[in-house]
Amino acid sequence: MARIGIIIGSTRPGRRGPAVGRWVHQVAVTDRPAVTFEILDLADFGLPLLDEPCPAAMGQYRYPHTHAWANAVARCDGFVFVTPEYNHSTSAAMKNAIDYLFAEWHDKAAGFVSYGVTGGWRATEALRLILAEVRVAGVRTAVGLSLFTDFSASGLTPAPHQRATLQTMLDELLTWSSALSRVRQS
Ligand SMILES: Cc1cc2nc3c(=O)[nH]c(=O)nc-3n(C[C@H](O)[C@H](O)[C@H](O)COP(=O)(O)O)c2cc1C
Repeated sequence: MARIGIIIGSTRPGRRGPAVGRWVHQVAVTDRPAVTFEILDLADFGLPLLDEPCPAAMGQYRYPHTHAWANAVARCDGFVFVTPEYNHSTSAAMKNAIDYLFAEWHDKAAGFVSYGVTGGWRATEALRLILAEVRVAGVRTAVGLSLFTDFSASGLTPAPHQRATLQTMLDELLTWSSALSRVRQS
């Protein structure tokens, strides 16, 4: 059974990230009983700014917070990166969490759900570059939620087409996650 981690990449008080992550999870679990979707909220992992003495490529982790994060990522076959746009990129928390690990990311697939004033697209494009270095393959279709049209005073209210785009992204992600699981076994 495939396992997909939905990574919530913001940690600040009052953040929109959890609402977006819950929406992704709710859409994802519908009609996909053979897949496990797990929310990985970076706020729950409490990662400090990278404090491991050895580079992640050496796989020698000293601290319990690194082991907990490594175990969570290692058990996943693919990921949905739920990312805010902060100053034309992803969040520092997301980049830091990626930097913590190396082999745990390898030969896995990713989809992206960004949000920001106009969709947060620059966060996704930045993530694609970063993730290529740790051998994570990003699928083409991505969701971009706009603060103007997909959120309201009551919270996240995605325009109707966003759900269809998310479904397409998830289908691509599961196809690539399945294909890459065979690469990891070879
Ligand atoms: C430090 C910071 C920088 C931001 N920079 C951008 C930006 O460059 N482009 C954009 O569209 N929105 C930007 N925003 C707006 C955020 O995308 C928006 O507030 C979003 O809700 C942040 O995610 P969060 O609520 O999960 O923290 C920025 C917000 C913060 C806090």
